[in-house]
Amino acid sequence: MRTSVKEVLNRVEAAEGISVAGWVRTRRDSKDFSFLEVNDGSCLAGLQIIADAGVKGYEDIQMMSTGSAIRVEGNLVASPGEGQSWELQATALVLLGSAPEDYPLQKKRHGPEFLREIAHLRPRTNLFGAVFRTRSRLALAVHHFFEKRGFVYVHTPIITANDCEGAGEMFKINTDGANLQDGEHFFGKPAHLTVSGQLEGETFACALSNIYTFGPTFRAENSHTSRHASEFWMIEPEMAFCNLEGDMDLAESFVKELTQEILDGPGDDFGLFSKFVDKELEPRLRMIVERPFARISYTDAVRVLEDSGHDFEYPVAWGENLQSEHERYLTEEYCKSPVTVFDYPETIKPFYMRRNDDQKTVAAMDVLVPGIGEIIGGSQREERLDVLRDNMSSAGLREEDYQWYLDLRKFGSVPHAGFGLGFERMLMMVTGVQNIRDVIPFPRTPGACGP
Ligand code: 4AD
Ligand code: MG
Repeated sequence: MRTSVKEVLNRVEAAEGISVAGWVRTRRDSKDFSFLEVNDGSCLAGLQIIADAGVKGYEDIQMMSTGSAIRVEGNLVASPGEGQSWELQATALVLLGSAPEDYPLQKKRHGPEFLREIAHLRPRTNLFGAVFRTRSRLALAVHHFFEKRGFVYVHTPIITANDCEGAGEMFKINTDGANLQDGEHFFGKPAHLTVSGQLEGETFACALSNIYTFGPTFRAENSHTSRHASEFWMIEPEMAFCNLEGDMDLAESFVKELTQEILDGPGDDFGLFSKFVDKELEPRLRMIVERPFARISYTDAVRVLEDSGHDFEYPVAWGENLQSEHERYLTEEYCKSPVTVFDYPETIKPFYMRRNDDQKTVAAMDVLVPGIGEIIGGSQREERLDVLRDNMSSAGLREEDYQWYLDLRKFGSVPHAGFGLGFERMLMMVTGVQNIRDVIPFPRTPGACGP
């Protein structure tokens, strides 16, 4: 039976008859034997193999080049070499799949741009192996967080007819060969890929109290930044009987606990990030876990930015969206910690947010973190039927399209609140990776839809 390299390296005793399989990272030949390093992606480290010239399968050794796949049987012995505890003394080698000379990962280090062009092979590099193992771990940490608190995981639809964020940045769904007449819609009305599971999530919160969604979302914004993707994953908790303060509290605990789980995880992957990707990563993450997040109203934040004397590219004015440079200034320079900005102007926020008593702002909040800017956007929802109707009509939404959403306010309406955390932005935060394209297995961005 095959043992993973990770299991082998974690062994406390020598053993005979071990079988491993993986891809050759390097091979060095001497007169009577060869050294191979084999990695199977189960952990960052590879396993050192020593194969004497006489062992079974050695006749294929020249084909066991970098990138080829092999299986090795052998005995595990303490390694005299530095930097590794075990090595495998091969008793038999099997070439599973050779890799000709044009295998693109021959060199030790390649730049991220080059590796993006070979998204199908980059998980075989140290950095991307570590990123995608961490992605998996972070996804599990999300479920742990909510499980501990009794939240129900709800799968909201990917195909929808509503535009939650009202920004009109949607990918329309078309069909080929469904024999539709001109102007006829497959679903009876125009449909598109969801930008958020929130509205459907709200209906479940107004029945099961505390729920969360975790799934892919799609935005057709033509933004060419290192923090925007056309397809990304979002986690959206929704809580009935909850106001904005409870929402901000949950958001803060969520970011802290996810960060803590990564700090507590296997040290090898995290060590790679803190050594090679971002030297400030560990102190920054410890600060995020230890310090309470600052909280500041949008109105005060605008004042801080205006009084900062900082030369921003985009002007700051009450009633305008905060730009990324403004967000970064608030978290990195002014607060020197994550900061939750709340009570934004109604005019720049979607229809579902609860109107405040000042009639100018809504109970919205964004969590901004150093190095990224906005990582979470959320709000208390408008639970008053008449106010919601008013908001919808100002937003140009037709009531008949959202009857089900209005029903929640008609039948047993309750205060409720929630937020969305961008999963990839969180992953960028905990790994120090600077470009969202490098934390998504197959990134989709304007102009790019690789394998
Ligand atoms: O602020 P957003 O647009 O909020 C919503 O969609 C709400 N419906 C959430 C809710 O209240 N349930 O998006 C939430 C988060 C952002 O803070 C950001 O982290 C991430 O989703 N995000 C993106 N991540 C990558 N690429 C994009 N194009 C993103 N757009 C938003
Ligand atoms: Mg937002």
